[in-house]
Amino acid sequence: MLVVAIDGPAGAGKSTIARALAERLGIAHLDTGAMYRAVTLAALRAGLHGDEPAVAGIARRMTLDVGTHVLLDGEDVTAKVRAPEVNVAVSVVAANSAVRDELRDRQRAWAAAHQGGVIEGRDIGSVVFPDARLKLYLTASPRVRAARRVAEHGGDVDAIEADIARRDGHDERRADGPLTRPDGAEVVDTSGMTIDEVLDEIERLLGERESR
Ligand code: C5P
Repeated sequence: MLVVAIDGPAGAGKSTIARALAERLGIAHLDTGAMYRAVTLAALRAGLHGDEPAVAGIARRMTLDVGTHVLLDGEDVTAKVRAPEVNVAVSVVAANSAVRDELRDRQRAWAAAHQGGVIEGRDIGSVVFPDARLKLYLTASPRVRAARRVAEHGGDVDAIEADIARRDGHDERRADGPLTRPDGAEVVDTSGMTIDEVLDEIERLLGERESR
């Protein structure tokens, strides 16, 4: 099973790179952030995102299909999981250990069903797939990360930089599966790099691993 684990802070380019890398390698791609976002959306709709056991119950019962679209109980919520209210609430839901346990089980089952894949998130190389063939920690300067978000989705660069910094802080400080550079991960700072340069560098690193 070929698993490439990609972790890193918000806006480092994980989704763009993970999608393109999966295509180059001819394997599947999983955005685990979309899974935490879908649980958050369902919890907000139920009006109980502060109630930990209730949110865990929602996570266990939901049907969730994350591919090019995000399907929550059969509804296409691809755009809705990117809404500002989800950005604000997702770190709290992601700090809920019962939610993390449930989503990690689903991520491992997904990888088994797809014979591996490029899997992106915050705890993929550290907790979910510590034995991944290649572990990457993608990063970029906060300003570059905010500017990329503005280029993709619009908005005010200062406000977005502040939102990214708030989410990073939350993700780094939580007890369960904090955002961290996993043991054995290769750090790639994408600040001054094009998408193709990042992909070439990752393929080089993968080739190095495979020839060991
Ligand atoms: O990757 P994205 O920015 O969409 O992730 C949204 C949020 O989901 C992150 O800020 C983090 O709180 C949470 N997350 C996580 N573990 C993962 C993936 C995402 O805690 N593996």
